[in-house]
Amino acid sequence: MRIVLTYGTFDLFHIGHVRLLQRARTFGDKLVVGVSSDKFNEEKGKKSIICYEHRAAIVAAMKDVDDVISEDSWNQKETDIKKLNADILVMGDDWEGKFDHFRDICEVKYVPRTHGISTSQLKEVLKPFSSKEISDLKDSFTTLENFIRQLNG
Ligand code: CTP
Repeated sequence: MRIVLTYGTFDLFHIGHVRLLQRARTFGDKLVVGVSSDKFNEEKGKKSIICYEHRAAIVAAMKDVDDVISEDSWNQKETDIKKLNADILVMGDDWEGKFDHFRDICEVKYVPRTHGISTSQLKEVLKPFSSKEISDLKDSFTTLENFIRQLNG
């Protein structure tokens, strides 16, 4: 059983996230995804539009994903790799070289990002919208999440 581990915030879930998770899964038999908690995002100076519970539920609903854990601090990756016995850490190539120091405990692979889309870009698009419209968007994500859950039985 080859265990793959990857991490991200996965806010405003988009096609770049889907492709990253699909690619990550091809490197092993089980894919575990660390989703940044809201508190950890704050530490990173980020504020996600979608809360942790919903981001984690959306990631967990993907058929390529076997397990979701929350990522709460920068130094958690090393503990997770050891605890989960992960064989490979997969990250998008925006992180190229940043996790090479884990090569003595597992394989590290950087995969190409999908061009032309990112959460930051989507946030820019949402900027002119009112808080009511953003709240409606959040409701749509909840509906989408429930729909995917039903599809997966
Ligand atoms: N990712 C990707 N292609 C994209 C966007 C993200 O492959 N177009 C990958 C990232 O490299 C990372 C994972 O998806 O491994 C989670 O990325 P995340 O930071 O949550 O999404 P971004 O869209 O990159 O968010 P931001 O713009 O806030 O950095």
